[in-house]
Amino acid sequence: MMQNILVTGGCGFIGSNFIRYLLEETDFAGRIINLDKLTYAGNPENLAGIDEKFAQRYVFQKADICDRAELQRIFREFQIDTICHFAAESHVDRSIAGPDAFIQTNVIGTFNLLETAREHRDRLRLFHHVSTDEVFGSLGKEGAFTEATAYKPNSPYSASKAASDHLVRAYYKTYNIPVTISNCSNNYGPYQFPEKLIPLMILNALERKPLPVYGDGSNVRDWLYVRDHCAAIWLIMNRGRRGETYNIGGDTELPNLRVVQLICDRLDAILPESGAPPRRELITFVKDRPGHDWRYAIDFSKLRGELGWTPAESFETGIDKTIRWYLERREWVERVKSGEYQNWIKAHYG
Ligand code: NAD
Ligand code: TYD
Repeated sequence: MMQNILVTGGCGFIGSNFIRYLLEETDFAGRIINLDKLTYAGNPENLAGIDEKFAQRYVFQKADICDRAELQRIFREFQIDTICHFAAESHVDRSIAGPDAFIQTNVIGTFNLLETAREHRDRLRLFHHVSTDEVFGSLGKEGAFTEATAYKPNSPYSASKAASDHLVRAYYKTYNIPVTISNCSNNYGPYQFPEKLIPLMILNALERKPLPVYGDGSNVRDWLYVRDHCAAIWLIMNRGRRGETYNIGGDTELPNLRVVQLICDRLDAILPESGAPPRRELITFVKDRPGHDWRYAIDFSKLRGELGWTPAESFETGIDKTIRWYLERREWVERVKSGEYQNWIKAHYG
């Protein structure tokens, strides 16, 4: 039985949704130890209320996965038996501007975590590694990534995630560490940092700021609602075969321009402003991202066939929930945009 689950990167977008999901929506009865460095992407406010509501079952530890001594302390102190590894530098544009942190955290940090897990293997039940479909590179008009697709990463971000996937797999093959790996498509939903396409466009459109679409907006992504992703990870952790990789997709392929237009149209419907032009007019085509992958599409028939998982949300329902969340959580938005959340972190953790 999984008893003490170490969640790395639990103050980030997906990690915080996963912790809420586990504590609030599943029958998991053990303890969660959330290990997070609190980079710009880590925001303890994403888990506001959780420490009071689950005082006996939730612990936060501010730590860096590159610090092996800290990892050893945490594994010992909290008797870690399961790991769900989200912690990463996650933004492609940042990896182009400065790849160092991506190599440190995504490659060296994952290696440290694997080594620490190996040292504590007597108690270890599972090391689950959360990865991305971007490791497979870019598709043309046809086809979709399967678990057998060859790795061909194009950005420093995806190359660093590819390296971490290979390490995790190697620890299974070489040391028989019980691992599972998931490669998912683009997530969206509550608590996503507004540097990523969907929250950036929602917040800019609300303020009637320009909506910067890279290139001609024809690049295609598959969109996965974050709660669906969390449910899939938990299913894989419980019932996935050890040593296996599972693709997770949202069955929602859309060109970027279409995504931005849909957000504009929904906002026009939810928040009509008399006399104001349609928000689509805010769309501005800007210089393309270097090495911009053209299309991602994911074949998740293995996950569906073996474990019976399918996404619950369509893009229409998921984007509606997401837009409403950002509209209702103005305080969270303001504190993230102004950087106020980082002052809070400094005051509490130095
Ligand atoms: P995020 O950037 O929102 O959060 C990352 C978290 O990791 C933050 O809380 C940050 O403080 C923490 N972190 C960073 N470096 C750390 C370090 N050295 N030690 C400890 N903690 C550290 O990322 P996200 O969008 O929630 O993504 C989570 C995982 O899912 C990542 O591994 C990412 O590669 C993967 N993924 C994300 C998406 C997506 O669409 N967001 C898609 C596929 C895969
Ligand atoms: P992003 O959310 O950064 O995720 P990823 O690069 O990991 O897929 O970007 C999603 C898509 O949206 C990608 O094709 C790049 C594009 N994009 C824009 O057109 N404008 C933007 O301002 C951003 C952030 C992304």
